[in-house]
Amino acid sequence: MSFKIRVPASGHEFIAEPDETILEAALRQGIGLPYGCRNGACGKCAGEVISGKTAYDTGALRASAKQEHEAGKTLFCQACAVSDLAIEVREVVKNTDIEIKTLPCRVEKMNLLTHDVMKLQLKLPETERLQFMAGQYLEFLLKDGKRRAFSIANAPHDDEYIELHIRHVPDGHFGDYVFDGLKEKTLMRIEGPLGSYFLREDSQCPVILMGGGTGYAPLKGMLEHAFHIKLDRPVHL
Ligand code: FES
Repeated sequence: MSFKIRVPASGHEFIAEPDETILEAALRQGIGLPYGCRNGACGKCAGEVISGKTAYDTGALRASAKQEHEAGKTLFCQACAVSDLAIEVREVVKNTDIEIKTLPCRVEKMNLLTHDVMKLQLKLPETERLQFMAGQYLEFLLKDGKRRAFSIANAPHDDEYIELHIRHVPDGHFGDYVFDGLKEKTLMRIEGPLGSYFLREDSQCPVILMGGGTGYAPLKGMLEHAFHIKLDRPVHL
């Protein structure tokens, strides 16, 4: 049996299945609720249940999430609905609603996509997830103070790893490093999410995506997101 979740402040409604958290249900249906870890640590997903009941293991909460729970809040990354609900929560509707974070990350996997494009998959610490809008980018913060920007190629819901496509351009120092020096398990620092290039989910217009080479990376993230939320508009690639 599924349950209806209402957010009276915005008028949004979505359906939650009994085996998914309220956060998962919202994101699956294109409703942007905030989160920072999705595993009961950061407290960023906390909100109020105005009416109805939820269930979850509050004993597993840690750190800030535990404090939010003790203050009477519900952690929507952990809670499942056991009845219809009305909730109060800050919604993420545009890029500026998302906190820009500086985070350590580990290069988990490296795969050549073509002779001059490397796919990197970055893993964040266990207690962190990078919330972003499909199509945004991040920057590597390098030891010499320089930054290198790359579009995020995965969709927000599929965020166990952050996927980047890096082209090896002639005389590009960072590309040289990625292709000739970087190894899996290397620790790096990133800042993100950044940029105002993202899929406008509240528009009714057809979506036209154009890009070449590694310019496909943000389009891939947008397409995967559009499929995930079952976007009901024509999409042209
Ligand atoms: S997203 Fe971090 S506790 Fe829910």
